[in-house]
Amino acid sequence: MARVLLGVTGGIAAYKACTLVRLLVRAGHEVTPLVTAGAERFVSAETFHALARRSPERDAYPHLERADVLVIAPLTANTLARLAHGLADDVLTEAALAHRGPVLVAPAMNPRMWEHPATQANVALLRARGVELVGPVEGELAEGDVGVGRMAEPEEIAARLEELLAAGRPEGALAGRTVLVSAGGTREPIDAVRFIGNRSSGRMGVALAVEALARGADVTLLGANLSVPAPSGVRLVETPTAAELEREALARADADVVVMAAAVADYRPVAPCEDKRSKDGQPWTLELEPTTDVLAALGAQKRKGQVLVGFAAEHGPGGLERAREKAVRKGADLVVFNDVARPDIGFDAEENEVVILSRSGERAVPKARKREVAAAILDEVERLLSEG
Ligand code: CTP
Repeated sequence: MARVLLGVTGGIAAYKACTLVRLLVRAGHEVTPLVTAGAERFVSAETFHALARRSPERDAYPHLERADVLVIAPLTANTLARLAHGLADDVLTEAALAHRGPVLVAPAMNPRMWEHPATQANVALLRARGVELVGPVEGELAEGDVGVGRMAEPEEIAARLEELLAAGRPEGALAGRTVLVSAGGTREPIDAVRFIGNRSSGRMGVALAVEALARGADVTLLGANLSVPAPSGVRLVETPTAAELEREALARADADVVVMAAAVADYRPVAPCEDKRSKDGQPWTLELEPTTDVLAALGAQKRKGQVLVGFAAEHGPGGLERAREKAVRKGADLVVFNDVARPDIGFDAEENEVVILSRSGERAVPKARKREVAAAILDEVERLLSEG
């Protein structure tokens, strides 16, 4: 059961927020509706209060202070902009500033408004502050327009809310455990503005961090140039280069679980130019030196009971065998094998298909969203932890 503040702003999708209230009440949550004047043009505040089984005259302020989560559905372009810039000119935006827990918003607007750079900049601001967005989704809008702008379905919003609440719960299979996850791809400077990098987005590592959080772990995320937002609730340490990742990982090598999902550069330029190198028509030869293999370094100093997970991004035939050999060579308890030759999975994709290798065997995880793959990996981690 959670205390949910439900903001409803002015849009035709406000009628769908009625279904959302029903779903939340049915799931046992205590819902306090905050209905803007704009929303009242579509559905009256009384309707929401009746569905939430609350009397409208009750003072909302005590609830604002002790709410577990703020949900705003639908969220108009206007209120989205007000939230992004910290305005507080009605009860809802005041509540948003006063609230300290997670925030989930379901934007709904005309597709052209959604695509507008002003809206997208506001969305980026909210995301950077850890606000979770669900939707908007593609579909036909009330005005007959087709495009991305429709509010996500109430069922989907309710499901995301449960995920968010689970993430904040201390109990869970990994409660009391420290988990260190590296994610993304390092960039090795060749001069002041250029680098050698890779295509890793950090999605898989971030999914692992979210899943570990949902299981109650204390999670530190070493982020190497993430192109997806880091989840709120994890301790984010920026590690843009292999050297920084090595330093920060080794400083936290005592974690109960370490998952090396980052694509760490194997080589870096020996002597990067301090300034931006100007072109002079001559060839530019770079000398590269090997970096430390962080996973192997962690494997060499692994303590009893600790679980160390590596990834093996392999290309072409014989990949599984090479991954198995990598597990032994680097001292990892689990190695997650994926075939980077396939364009539909792995690098920068939403989905992944992996084989989890351990000393006791292998488990194939069919193609699924990265969060589900993360869950399968952490199931294996939990199994090893319980075996001590
Ligand atoms: N890794 C690491 N430090 C490095 C390179 C890789 O910790 N300098 C880790 C990765 O985070 C991953 C695992 O090692 O968990 C496997 O990385 P991968 O690039 O697949 O393998 P390599 O060891 O680089 O082997 P090769 O490139 O020869 O296949």
